[in-house]
Amino acid sequence: MNILVTGGASGLGEALTRKLASMPASRVFFTFHRSVENSRRLESSLGNVEGLRCDFTKLDDVKRLKDRMPAMDLDVLVNNAIAGLTRNHFHKIEPETFSASFIDNVLPTIRITQQAILLFRQKKGGRIVNILTSYLINRPPIGLSEYVANKAYLESLSKSWAVENAKFNITSNCVSPSIMRTGLTKDTDERVIEALIEEHPLRKLLTTDEVAAAVSSLITSSSHINGVNLAINAGADVI
Ligand SMILES: NC(=O)c1ccc[n+]([C@@H]2O[C@H](COP(=O)([O-])OP(=O)(O)OC[C@H]3O[C@@H](n4cnc5c(N)ncnc54)[C@H](OP(=O)(O)O)[C@@H]3O)[C@@H](O)[C@H]2O)c1
Repeated sequence: MNILVTGGASGLGEALTRKLASMPASRVFFTFHRSVENSRRLESSLGNVEGLRCDFTKLDDVKRLKDRMPAMDLDVLVNNAIAGLTRNHFHKIEPETFSASFIDNVLPTIRITQQAILLFRQKKGGRIVNILTSYLINRPPIGLSEYVANKAYLESLSKSWAVENAKFNITSNCVSPSIMRTGLTKDTDERVIEALIEEHPLRKLLTTDEVAAAVSSLITSSSHINGVNLAINAGADVI
């Protein structure tokens, strides 16, 4: 099974690369941006992975990745990378920030997924998994409107990808994890983390390995599982 993980050299992406590379007969291609050293470490410690530099904010990088994709003979695409987010109250965010973030985060995912779908349709099969956020369920947090709106856009696209491609044995599903310790949350005040743990149903934070395990099970599941968004939040919020 040939797998492409975007942002697969650090944070949740690294856990995904490691987990998916451990699956039988798998080969994992992953993109990285700043994690050059970690990318090299993954390549040398795991025999069946290959890192490709791709900065989502550079159209040429995304085009180069698209050009490389046919030779990967992909079976699976995991849309995981995030090129940045804005933390501020909605009314204080410049409208241009929303469009810039859409261009940097959502459009690259659209370009890469379009290429994957074209290739999956040719081989009559494929799996797409999109990493969203549990903030889509119930109340969004204060100050993350831009981030959550982009994820909502991808959630909607994932449903269209599922519906338009089901007859080609292609599935598109999402996972929506709650907060994990990664680069994205490294600046979160430790007192905030402690409070989150205190109110968490399991009194502990979700780990990247737990999310990677859920993604791996979605990849190997029946084609009947299509168009779903799997919340990984210990039932903290339910729809
Ligand atoms: N952490 C959480 O609490 C949490 C909760 C729910 C969902 N998520 C989702 O999980 C996914 C992974 O995030 P994370 O938590 O693992 O955060 P992270 O550690 O900050 O990872 C972000 C990933 O995106 C890549 N990236 C950063 N800038 C990029 C750019 N300009 N172009 C291309 N790739 C770029 C990074 O690659 P390099 O390291 O190579 O630069 C890294 O692999 C995201 O979709 C995020 O929304 C996270």
